[in-house]
Amino acid sequence: THGRRLTAAAGVLALAACDGPQSTLTPAGVGAERIADLWWWMFGGAVVIWVVVIGLAVYATRFGTGRHDVRRARLLIIGAGAVFPTVVLTALLIWGLRLMPVLRPPTGDAAVRVEVEGLRWWWRVTYVTPDGRRIPLANEIRLPVGQMAAFTLTSPDVIHSFWIPSLGGKMDMIPGRVTELALEPTRTGVFRGACAEYCGTSHALMQFGVEVLEPAAFDDWLATQAAPAEAPASPEAARGRELFLAFGCGACHAVRGTPADGTIGPDLTHVGGRLTLGAGILPNDPAAFARWIGDTHEVKPDAEMPPFGMLPAADLRALALYLDGLT
Ligand code: CUA
Repeated sequence: THGRRLTAAAGVLALAACDGPQSTLTPAGVGAERIADLWWWMFGGAVVIWVVVIGLAVYATRFGTGRHDVRRARLLIIGAGAVFPTVVLTALLIWGLRLMPVLRPPTGDAAVRVEVEGLRWWWRVTYVTPDGRRIPLANEIRLPVGQMAAFTLTSPDVIHSFWIPSLGGKMDMIPGRVTELALEPTRTGVFRGACAEYCGTSHALMQFGVEVLEPAAFDDWLATQAAPAEAPASPEAARGRELFLAFGCGACHAVRGTPADGTIGPDLTHVGGRLTLGAGILPNDPAAFARWIGDTHEVKPDAEMPPFGMLPAADLRALALYLDGLT
């Protein structure tokens, strides 16, 4: 019974590992649910096939070299080795083909439109409102529950792949092409997205936060994103703002409502209110801001942003406080 208990514990642990914010097996979207169904059927089928194959292999060891045995072996090879796989693979192909329209529905009447550009190694995100207003942000996707969101995906450098495992299928972002993806979340929660195509040194550090909200909360959030940045709340944060502008951070980053209007790097207008920093790899707090600014390449090797580790600690802290206050 000790061994059985251990086996059970291992099973529970293995299943627990399938839970969490980035799991295809605890779906939170229409597409992800269908993909999970297919996965379970394939898993069950694979178990059955494995048992049958092992059984046949054991059975085959008992064959002799007589004429009767040779005929049985030939039947076995044709039946189990050719006919059966053809039937199973054809069935899976038909299933997959029928799933495609579900995973890629027409997006004409989508409630939310989002453009995402994959770059080494972050995500430029632009929400487009029904009246055509464009709201820039970065490294974060929030969606209203129960409504379809249409994504337009591009890349200016190399191939990336946009994937929120909990919500649906993944889609490549290919330079020179526009790809589309529809996601329809079925429950609220915080999830995680990631780049699913190797794209260079920091590919594994190219992630993003995802939150599915009630529609009213989503509208509030989007209204906040559309608004200009709020003023610094303390003298130290105000000094951080001065430093931000004096160091030329605005050449690459925009903070709407200030002279900083760069478009090379992520828009920072509401960076302090995001789920994560550094494209899904750091918590969002002043210490993480200071670490990112001072040790950029320790945190994300080969990132385009130059590190500012030469700054006095007090300056770093003021900058971090300012950015953390941009909620
Ligand atoms: Cu972008 Cu991997």
